[in-house]
Order: sequence, then structure tokens, then C-alpha cells
Amino acid sequence: MNRIKHHIILEDLKEAKKVKIIVDGEEMEAYEGEMIAAALLANGRKQFRYTKKHHSPRGIFCGIGRCTDCIMTVNGVPNVRTCITPVEDGMVIETQKGVGEWKRGENGV
Ligand code: FES
Repeated sequence: MNRIKHHIILEDLKEAKKVKIIVDGEEMEAYEGEMIAAALLANGRKQFRYTKKHHSPRGIFCGIGRCTDCIMTVNGVPNVRTCITPVEDGMVIETQKGVGEWKRGENGV
């Protein structure tokens, strides 16, 4: 994983428990409590969703929960802003197409 380990302002990256997340069916390693977007970037993923009208790829843009470019389907729930949502062990994360699809409930996750 590629991460900034020493930062001039934030100082050294603190040790955290490693967890597994599933991204589009692929198992990835992440640190518990870090934001989903950070974990994806560390694992080389830059495209998080595709727009509804033109199917254009989008990824992290503002990084502070305002633009919604980073939304994905997380544990069956669409439109989750991954830049402000912490990773949890076993999370199932999917690239979102358009407005997404609610998969939670009787037939979902
Ligand atoms: S990158 Fe803008 S809301 Fe997440």
C-alpha cells in the first residue's frame, strides 16, 4: 500500500489495526478508522463512480464531504460519501453507476 508515513504538519502515521474490505469483489487491506477514499487511493483505486448522464468516471475531488464525486455503494447503501466515511472490517464497497441502487434489505446485503 502507498501511504504518506511522515507528514510535516500531521506528523507520523499512527499504527492502526489492519482490516479487510471488499471492493467490487476484490479483497483489499485498509486501516481501521481511515476514510474509505483514503484506503482506495492507497490500494491504487482512483475511480469511485460513473455519472448518470455521460457515464464519466469520478473520484475524490473536495475530500471534505461537499461535492459527492466520491460516492459509492457501501454495504448495499448507495450515495455514501467515501471521503468522510470510515472503513470498517468486512465492508462491501461497490463502484456506483448513476444514482445507484439500494441493495440492502430482503434480497440485498
Ligand atoms: S470528494 Fe467531495 S464529497 Fe467526497
